[in-house]
Amino acid sequence: MVQQISIMDAKSHVDEKVKIGVWLTNKRSSGKIAFLQLRDGTAFFQGVVVKSQVTPEVFELAKEVKQETSMWITGVIHEDSRSKFGYEIEVEDLEVVGESEEYPITPKEHGVDFLLDHRHLWLRSKQPWATMNIRNEVIRATYEFFNQEGFIKMDSPILTGSAPEGTTELFHTEYFDRDAYLSQSGQLYAEAGALAYGKVFTFGPTFRAEKSKTRRHLIEFWMIEPEMAFMHQEQSLEVQERYIAHLVQSVIDNCQYALDILGRDVETLKKYTKLPYPRISYDEAIDLLKANDFDVDWGVDFGSPEETFLADHFDQPVFVLNYPKAIKPFYMKPHPTRDDVVICADLLAPEGYGEIIGGSERATDYEYLLDQVKKAGLDPKDYAWYLDLRKYGSVPHSGFGLGLERFLTWITAEDHVRETIPFPRLLNRIYP
Ligand code: 4AD
Ligand code: MG
Repeated sequence: MVQQISIMDAKSHVDEKVKIGVWLTNKRSSGKIAFLQLRDGTAFFQGVVVKSQVTPEVFELAKEVKQETSMWITGVIHEDSRSKFGYEIEVEDLEVVGESEEYPITPKEHGVDFLLDHRHLWLRSKQPWATMNIRNEVIRATYEFFNQEGFIKMDSPILTGSAPEGTTELFHTEYFDRDAYLSQSGQLYAEAGALAYGKVFTFGPTFRAEKSKTRRHLIEFWMIEPEMAFMHQEQSLEVQERYIAHLVQSVIDNCQYALDILGRDVETLKKYTKLPYPRISYDEAIDLLKANDFDVDWGVDFGSPEETFLADHFDQPVFVLNYPKAIKPFYMKPHPTRDDVVICADLLAPEGYGEIIGGSERATDYEYLLDQVKKAGLDPKDYAWYLDLRKYGSVPHSGFGLGLERFLTWITAEDHVRETIPFPRLLNRIYP
């Protein structure tokens, strides 16, 4: 019996005869030899079919088989130093499993709208394959990191009656005879979790009806939101930078092949494992921007050019601390000596990728928070449970949210955040 393996396992089967279930991605052939580009979901490699070594039927099949036909191949694994993958298979037998019609995504270049319309098929191509593998590694390393640090994973609801990040970007839905919204953030629930279990993190889809059509915005994105009791902002920043460094190191260690496919330079990534990351205040950021000819006044939120400048200035991810209260959500802790800023931080990624984390210390005083809820135009009845957390043993607590796709866009150096999620939801796209 010939052993069935995956392409990824080829390295442990050199000179052995194996059987692999594959799809054809491309091919070229001459009268005597056919080169089949193959994939099986675990990796991509080449199958070589030599006319003199196989039956006429097998050689004929190898020459005629169409792109994306699925097949069983049997053959011997060889090292192949010319390919990125390092191994190839010398095919002895080939059996078609499922024929393919004319495949729309041919090996030539295609426009991005065409590719997005065919995302269900585009996912099979090399670049999305590599990106989704890195996404998987980042999710794995997230669970690993928070487990090591003593957090528990706590799921927050998707259907909610609250609007932590502002009421303008809510997706409304009916909840029987009441109103409900799709979650913008699991944070408020994570706060209840932190006061119950100490250190928790949520990880789930979040929804923002943002009319933004930028390369950083998704309508549906996945967010990791840790929340920690008995913790001030400075300790939270240390957790944040250790977490980012752990993710980057895990991708370097476990995704070499995928990084290679994407052409992402590993030396650049290594820089981001060096801690600590620089910290500057919002005030200092404004001064730095002004000194470099940016037209910014104290009080504005930063746009993409400002964020790009700040992180590139340090050539590292940089924490910008204590933004103006007026541009941040209601739940952030007020500054002890200034009433115009709150205790918060955004982490800005270099190379033009902007904000990847938003976080803060949370307001702990019941009366202050009640006032903030009202000022934000929210109904205190909907937030009674959240306010309760300040009534029964309120403690200093802090948390943050990492946008998974924003982080991935930076790590993979993709042009657009839509590349990093299997089926992107964009302003004008909900298909496929
Ligand atoms: O800064 P944001 O809005 O913060 C929160 O939601 C807090 N409740 C987090 C917390 O403290 N628990 O969002 C956090 C992160 C951003 O830094 C960004 O990485 C990502 O979520 N993000 C988006 N990613 C893709 N598309 C969008 N439209 C995003 N909006 C935010
Ligand atoms: Mg933010």
